[in-house]
Amino acid sequence: MNVCIYPNAELAAAAAAILIAGQVIDKPRSVLGLATGSTPLPIYRELIAMARRGALDLRQVTTYNLDEYMGLGPDHPCSYRRFMWENLFSQVDIPAGNIHIPDGLARDPAEECRRYDAAIAAAGQLDLQLLGIGANGHIGFNEPAERFTTHSYCVALSAQTLRDNRRFFEEGAPMPTHALTMGIGSIMQAKRIVLVATGAGKAQAVRGMIEGPVDPMLPASILQMHRHATVLLDAAAASALTVR
Ligand code: PGA
Repeated sequence: MNVCIYPNAELAAAAAAILIAGQVIDKPRSVLGLATGSTPLPIYRELIAMARRGALDLRQVTTYNLDEYMGLGPDHPCSYRRFMWENLFSQVDIPAGNIHIPDGLARDPAEECRRYDAAIAAAGQLDLQLLGIGANGHIGFNEPAERFTTHSYCVALSAQTLRDNRRFFEEGAPMPTHALTMGIGSIMQAKRIVLVATGAGKAQAVRGMIEGPVDPMLPASILQMHRHATVLLDAAAASALTVR
């Protein structure tokens, strides 16, 4: 695990965008695993700026997002499909047919998860997976659990995640209780992983991920076992590390 600490979140995001851009420059037909949440927003802004300047050509890239809320369709303002469309896909020229997000309206979620993993495998696995981390150490929607998950699956969201993500939903609006997510095994098959964590709220999870034992109760700790994982932190997210 290669850990880089930056003075602020903006620089950590710029570094992540550089790694993603480098991947695409090296391999224009890269298969990218993408993430939602607050952390990736400045990364996507940076990628959009690079593409607009002509420094980055995303036209041959294929993308697979980590997760989607169950029961939210593409038009729902809080669906991850909508999030990705608004914050990245509408502003870069990745062909729509190359964009993949689990279908939150799938009638058979288990079948949708099988289909999703099979599609990633058929694409040759992810060249680079971008990750954030939850305050509880989740990656994707892989919540703390007794064992690491293997394949994509339908997960019940933890109380902490429901609390943390409430801010994205209108006050009083119902919030999904389940999501489809790539499993830990699916994520670990990515050839390269770039995890970005910013803000003091992530400091304890970051410490557990880097310094703690590999433990399914802190799902991100599995990244210690990945061959090519890069962790980009701002100073606040790195503040609980004992070794720097
Ligand atoms: P955040 O979420 O980027 O909104 O903090 C990260 C995550 O839960 O994986």
